[in-house]
Amino acid sequence: MQTVASGVAIIGSGSASPAASLDNDGISQVVDTSDEWIATRTGIRNRYLASPQESLTDIATLAGQRALAMANVTALDLDMVLLATSTPDDLFGSACQVQGALGAKHAVAFDLTAACSGFVFGLVTAAQFIRTGTYRTVLLIGADLLSRWVDWSDRGTCVLFGDGAGAVVLQANDCDRFLGFALQSDGSQNSCLNLGYQPKAQPLTANLSVSQGTYQPLTMQGKEVYRFAVNRVPEIIEKALFQANLDAKQLDWLLLHQANQRILDAVAKRLRIDDQKVISNMASYGNTSAASIPLALDETLRKGQIKSGDVIATAGFGAGLSWGAAIFAWGP
Ligand code: UT7
Repeated sequence: MQTVASGVAIIGSGSASPAASLDNDGISQVVDTSDEWIATRTGIRNRYLASPQESLTDIATLAGQRALAMANVTALDLDMVLLATSTPDDLFGSACQVQGALGAKHAVAFDLTAACSGFVFGLVTAAQFIRTGTYRTVLLIGADLLSRWVDWSDRGTCVLFGDGAGAVVLQANDCDRFLGFALQSDGSQNSCLNLGYQPKAQPLTANLSVSQGTYQPLTMQGKEVYRFAVNRVPEIIEKALFQANLDAKQLDWLLLHQANQRILDAVAKRLRIDDQKVISNMASYGNTSAASIPLALDETLRKGQIKSGDVIATAGFGAGLSWGAAIFAWGP
């Protein structure tokens, strides 16, 4: 197949949250904690939590539809649907369910798992398909329902996470707006953050057992992950900026994975970026994993704060451990 190199633009965004929310006073009735502890240590005041009737596919689809509407493209225009999630409705993947619900008949669809880095890894993956001329229009959705997998008796983790979905439409563009990126992984630190499968032997024959276990609730070594984030995230943004031939001073916005306000503040300080340029909405949503970046992007866009051509540095970090940054200018 003859392919033609192309520029990449991000031209629409959308987001969706479950109907119900739980504030810090509410979660204090679930575990021994307080609004004061959660707010001062993390900046989180509220989170949305999916009911048993709400599926990952439903909220991912809604976020996707809203992104398509903003981008002014239809589901039939899509060549690819990429779903960044660690909490699919189906372990075989939920991207095809989303593709079916959208009616994106011409699109190939698959899941991408990179935990809280999933959206940035997805952005880079989508951009590669467009850049090579293989696909023209891609819907990237970051969606997670971590409430399904949090240990609701562990106050060290359950207060942090919320459920949500965010999406963007990427399209081939004469002018290249995807300016630089860097991705990294460190499996030697894998045990810092897990949602692991616990095997349970089931004998089949006298000589053979198979494993019929279950996934266990999320575990995290918070301090290690915190240290990793404040050290590695500024470095990877610098790397992506170098590739983009830009300086941190030229950024209009810093859009980080919404894990902890103290991490956002520390990264901005290291990069000497003004507080007003730091996008933050974790007070309302908590840490929504792969959804947090597109959710925060969509909210800021719909407030009219981000203008066409604004240069945004985004970075995701989390389980793997994995981390990545991308620099792009908003709009066509
Ligand atoms: O999205 C993936 C990426 N994840 C992250 O980026 C998370 C990074 N880590 C963090 O954000 C922070 O480490 C946390 C917010 C998770 C924890 O903050 P911390 O300042 O590291 O607290 P800690 O875990 O060291 O706990 C300090 C104290 C402990 O009590 P003692 O041992 O000092 O008496 C904890 O038992 O706070 C206690 N504690 C709580 N107290 C009230 C832990 N969780 C809670 C809680 N409410 N929810």
